[in-house]
Amino acid sequence: MNAAAMDMPRFGKDATVEEVSEALRTAGCAVVERLMPEDSVDALMADMAPWIDATPNGADTFSGLLTKRTGALVARSRASWGFVAHPLVLGICESVLWPKKTSFQLHLTQLISIGPGSAGQPLHRDQWCFDSFPFPGDIDVEVSTIWAMQDFTAENGATRIIPGSHTESNDSLTHEHRVVQAEMPKGSVVLYTGRTIHGGGENRSDAVRTGLNIDYVLGWLRQEENQYLSVPPDVARTLPEEMQRLVGYAMGSYALGYVDDVRSPADYLAGSAGASSFGAGDVEFNRGALR
Ligand SMILES: [Fe+2]
Repeated sequence: MNAAAMDMPRFGKDATVEEVSEALRTAGCAVVERLMPEDSVDALMADMAPWIDATPNGADTFSGLLTKRTGALVARSRASWGFVAHPLVLGICESVLWPKKTSFQLHLTQLISIGPGSAGQPLHRDQWCFDSFPFPGDIDVEVSTIWAMQDFTAENGATRIIPGSHTESNDSLTHEHRVVQAEMPKGSVVLYTGRTIHGGGENRSDAVRTGLNIDYVLGWLRQEENQYLSVPPDVARTLPEEMQRLVGYAMGSYALGYVDDVRSPADYLAGSAGASSFGAGDVEFNRGALR
């Protein structure tokens, strides 16, 4: 077991998919500074302000008793699309997630507003949501991102992460001495995998700390945020095709996710009859599934 403290890999906005993906494979996490311009952050926050105001605080210590979690970003904020479909992030997901995947999709979209005085979130791994299913150790099924909606500092609750913990046992959950906070300027993003131990930071400042959490998951796993209710078909029909696919209106793999008379979700949204095929025109049959 590697119990030595490790630094958080850091990159500038010109980082390549290969560089950041390699950091995720070796350290389980990485920061890309100032990847989105500040006016894009401001536009998203303006779209979401009324929804944040209407969001109650969490009901338990994991959700955060002084923390608001505001979702359905794709339906509520056009400005969110540039974050959700950022080409660097999507390229990293394509590279890091299990290579045999037919597709990947959004897992959740959530603005996390950590109020002043909020305690730190318990350390955890995001893929525990799958009933702690014991995926083989070298498989990543999930990539998580948190974008800084304002400067993230140690004082205001920058995300706490244990670099290198993605390949380690749960003994590492107690390794507080190895925790690194993802301090980063507004518009930056921290990425980590579903296996990486992390948690929201304690907010010791006198202001709310808001992060935009967007996670991605293999197309054959259930999404944490129910995207078909957060982004119902009448809204999905108005989205660009790439956003429709990311939300989940696509075949997850061969035969997975068809509608009524074996139509693909894309044909369903378009109101066309479709091919009545389990491949539905947009997936290849995966022979590995027969083994
Ligand atoms: Fe988490």
